[in-house]
Amino acid sequence: MKVLIIGANGKIGQKLAKKLKSSNHHPVAMVRKKGQVSQFETMNIDTVVADLESEFEHAYDGINAVVFTAGSGGHTGPDKTHLVDRLGAKKAIDLAVKNNMDQFIMVSALGADYSPEKWPESMKHYYEAKADADKHLMQTSLNYTILKPGKLTDEDGSNNILIGDEIDQTNREIPRTDVATVIEKSIGNASTYKKSLEVLTGNTPIDQAINSL
Ligand SMILES: NC(=O)c1ccc[n+]([C@@H]2O[C@H](COP(=O)([O-])OP(=O)(O)OC[C@H]3O[C@@H](n4cnc5c(N)ncnc54)[C@H](OP(=O)(O)O)[C@@H]3O)[C@@H](O)[C@H]2O)c1
Repeated sequence: MKVLIIGANGKIGQKLAKKLKSSNHHPVAMVRKKGQVSQFETMNIDTVVADLESEFEHAYDGINAVVFTAGSGGHTGPDKTHLVDRLGAKKAIDLAVKNNMDQFIMVSALGADYSPEKWPESMKHYYEAKADADKHLMQTSLNYTILKPGKLTDEDGSNNILIGDEIDQTNREIPRTDVATVIEKSIGNASTYKKSLEVLTGNTPIDQAINSL
């Protein structure tokens, strides 16, 4: 599938673009600055320059599936969370419907959809935006896959995960590289369609865990 990666210059996005380049999929890296293009070009990865805060429908030309792994990040305030994580994500979903995408994979966050009383006040706007975008996606007819990783780390991947509707486990972390592999293995995989899945480091190889969903 030709896969648009929204947030390709991010930590998960870069790992995913490389993984898809050596798979049977065709990644297209969506970046928001021209200066971010060359690093992908040197790997022969197609790019499109587009910003979630402007019109970005051109990014969907020839695309079959979308991965949303963008985020305004912790260094900006609630205003950007609203514009990028909520409105940008919802626009990306609406464009996926309009352009008949085969699949939409959303990188959400563990805990975004329940226990608001547990959200720290400083993170409330973030979880609310993530939950709102997820809800919007679930109301579409798209083959959606919502992945809700726990705290992301930059450790080496273990390639072993625990994935499911709601996970009760003390370790609430997962390396970004494993999240990127979960995304790769979810593309075109009907066992992940119409599902919202928590994902953490666990004991089951990623392929096996996903195919047993
Ligand atoms: N941090 C955690 O523990 C955690 C836990 C669960 C889920 N998540 C979610 O995981 C996802 C990916 O995480 P990550 O660590 O890979 O994030 P990251 O490194 O911060 O990457 C986010 C990317 O989004 C891009 N972006 C921001 N605003 C944009 C806009 N207006 N238009 C287009 N692109 C825009 C950024 O572009 P630039 O490179 O140009 O800045 C960046 O490349 C995010 O959705 C995050 O909310 C994070």
